Amino acid sequence: MYAQRVLSGMRPTGSLHLGHYHGVLKNWVRLQNEYPCLFFVADWHALTTQYDDPQGIVGATWEMIIDWLAAGVDPARATLFIQSQVPEHAELHLLLSMMTPLGWLERVPTYKDQQEKLENKDLSTYGFLGYPLLQAADILIYRADKVPVGEDQVPHIEFSREIARRFNHLYGREAGFAEKVAEALTRLGARRARRYEELRTRYQEQGEPSAIERAQALLDEVPALSLADRERLRGHLEGTGKMILVEPAALLTAAARMPGVDGQKMSKSYGNTITLREDAASVTHKLRRMPTDPARIRRNDPGEPANCPVWPLHQVYSDEACRAWVEQGCRSAGIGCLECKQPVIDAILREQAPMRERAQEYIEQPELVREIVAEGNRKARHLARETMRDVRQALGLNFG
Ligand code: TRP
Ligand code: SF4
Repeated sequence: MYAQRVLSGMRPTGSLHLGHYHGVLKNWVRLQNEYPCLFFVADWHALTTQYDDPQGIVGATWEMIIDWLAAGVDPARATLFIQSQVPEHAELHLLLSMMTPLGWLERVPTYKDQQEKLENKDLSTYGFLGYPLLQAADILIYRADKVPVGEDQVPHIEFSREIARRFNHLYGREAGFAEKVAEALTRLGARRARRYEELRTRYQEQGEPSAIERAQALLDEVPALSLADRERLRGHLEGTGKMILVEPAALLTAAARMPGVDGQKMSKSYGNTITLREDAASVTHKLRRMPTDPARIRRNDPGEPANCPVWPLHQVYSDEACRAWVEQGCRSAGIGCLECKQPVIDAILREQAPMRERAQEYIEQPELVREIVAEGNRKARHLARETMRDVRQALGLNFG
C-alpha cells in the first residue's frame, strides 16, 4: 500500500535505560526490517517543558542517538534525523495552527495531566498547548501511516488523524480535480484503468475494504506515477477528493513492562533505572543491593517470589527452567537471594554486551554519528519538502 511508512520520535532525555530498550527500541529494530522507517529526536518538543533550561538538549540528543545505534537501530535501514534540522516541521505546524480549533488542543488529555504533574513549572504557554499539533506536523509531513508509540501517546495520534481529516476536508479539492483524475487514469494503461474503476465501484457501492487495498496495490504497480497523481487516484478511490495529508494510525505493541531495581516500573523519575550501557560493576552492584521478599530476613527463612521485586526481572530475563529453580529454591530456602539474582545479572550483562560494543565505535568516532544524522536529515528534508509543496499548493500559497 502506498505511504506505508513508519515514523516515531523521542524527546532527547539523554541516556536511555533498559525500560526504553524493552518498551520501544526493540520494537524499532524489528520494524526497520519490515517497513521504511523514520526515527527522529524531537528536540523542539523538549523545549515545550524545558524552555527555561535548553542547554542540555544538544548533548542529550547525541547521547540518545548513540543509544539508538547501540540498541541495533541500523542507519542502513532506518532514517535517523533531528526535528529542528528539518525546519519544514515548523512551517507545517504554523499552517496547521491556523485551522486548529483551540478546543481540540485543550481537550487533549495529556495537556491538563502534564500541567498538573509538572506543577512547579509554568506550562500555560502557547508552545505547550501546541505540543500535540507539533507532533501532528511531525507525522503528517512524512505522510506516515504507522506510528509506533506507547499507550500514553494514543490521544496524540488520534488528534493527528483529526487534523489530517480537517485539512483534507478544507483544502483537498483542487480545481479541475475530475479532469486531473481522468488524465492520471490514462497513465495506468487501459487494462489497469478498467480494473481500478471496477474496484472503485465495488468499494463505493459495497464498501468492501479489500477492494481499496487491491486498487492501491494496483497503483503501486505503476512506479512512474507521480506522487500527485497517485494521491488523486487514491482520493478518487475513497471519494474524498484529493488526499493531501495521510491519516496516521498508532502502532501499539503489547507494553513490555520492564521492572526497575525496586520492583516498580523502570523510570527515571523513580530513580530505579539501569541505563543501556551502564558499566558492569554498577549493574552488579545495583542488583545485589536490590530488596527481596521482606519475609526472608535470614538465609534460612523461606520466601515467596510473588512478594519479591526480583521476581519480575526473572520473568523478563529467565527461562522456564531457571524460574522453576527460583520458585523451588526460594520457597524451600534452598537458595540464597544473591544466588537467585545471579542469573538476572548475567542475563542483563549479556544483553548489554553487544550494545556497549556497538556504542564504543561511535564514542571513539563521533564524526560517524554526525554523518549518519546529516544523511538522515537530508533524506527526511527531501520528503518533508515534497509534502510542503503539496500543502502550499492546496492552500493556494505558491508564489511560483
Ligand atoms: N510526544 C512523543 C513522546 O513524548 C514524542 C514525539 C514527538 C513523537 N513527535 C512525535 C512520537 C511524532 C511519535 C511521532 O514520546
Ligand atoms: Fe526474591 Fe529470589 Fe530471594 Fe526469593 S530467593 S526472595 S525470589 S531474590
